[in-house]
Amino acid sequence: MNLQDQLPQLIAQHQDQAGALLPLLHAVQDALGYVPAEAVPAIAKALNLSRAEVHGVLSYYHFFRSMPPGRHVVQICRAEACQACGGDALLAEAEQLLACKLHETRADGAVTLEPVYCLGLCASSPAMQIDGQLLGRVDGVRLAQVLASLEL
Ligand code: FES
Repeated sequence: MNLQDQLPQLIAQHQDQAGALLPLLHAVQDALGYVPAEAVPAIAKALNLSRAEVHGVLSYYHFFRSMPPGRHVVQICRAEACQACGGDALLAEAEQLLACKLHETRADGAVTLEPVYCLGLCASSPAMQIDGQLLGRVDGVRLAQVLASLEL
C-alpha cells in the first residue's frame, strides 16, 4: 500500500478525535514505516493546522522517521540509565556488527540503526529493541547472537 491509498482512510479514522495529530502521525508511520513529507499538507488541512505546526511535531519527536526504514529496525537506548550501564559500548558494537552508523540505513536496505530514549527497561540496562522486540541486559555476546538471527 502506498500513501495515496492509505492516507485518506487514516485521516478519516483520526481527524475527529481530540488531539488527533499524534495518533494520526503514529498511524501513518505504522502503516508506511515513516511519515512522508508529501503527507504533511493533507494532514495539516484535515486537522486545520498549519504545515509548520505538523512539521514542528514531526521534527520534535525522534520517533518519527522522514525516510523509509530498512527491512529491520535496530534501536539502541541512549537515555541516562542505559548510558550508565554500557550503552555507549553497546552502540559501538551494534554499529560495527551492522556496518551501519547511528541514524542511518545500511546501503543494502537491510537495517536501520536508530537511537531511542528509554524503553522502560531501565532496571535491565542496557536495553534495545529490534523490530519491536524489547531486549534488556544486552551485552556484546547477546547482541551478536540476536543480530545473527536476523540474517542480514
Ligand atoms: Fe534505557 Fe530506560 S534508560 S530503558
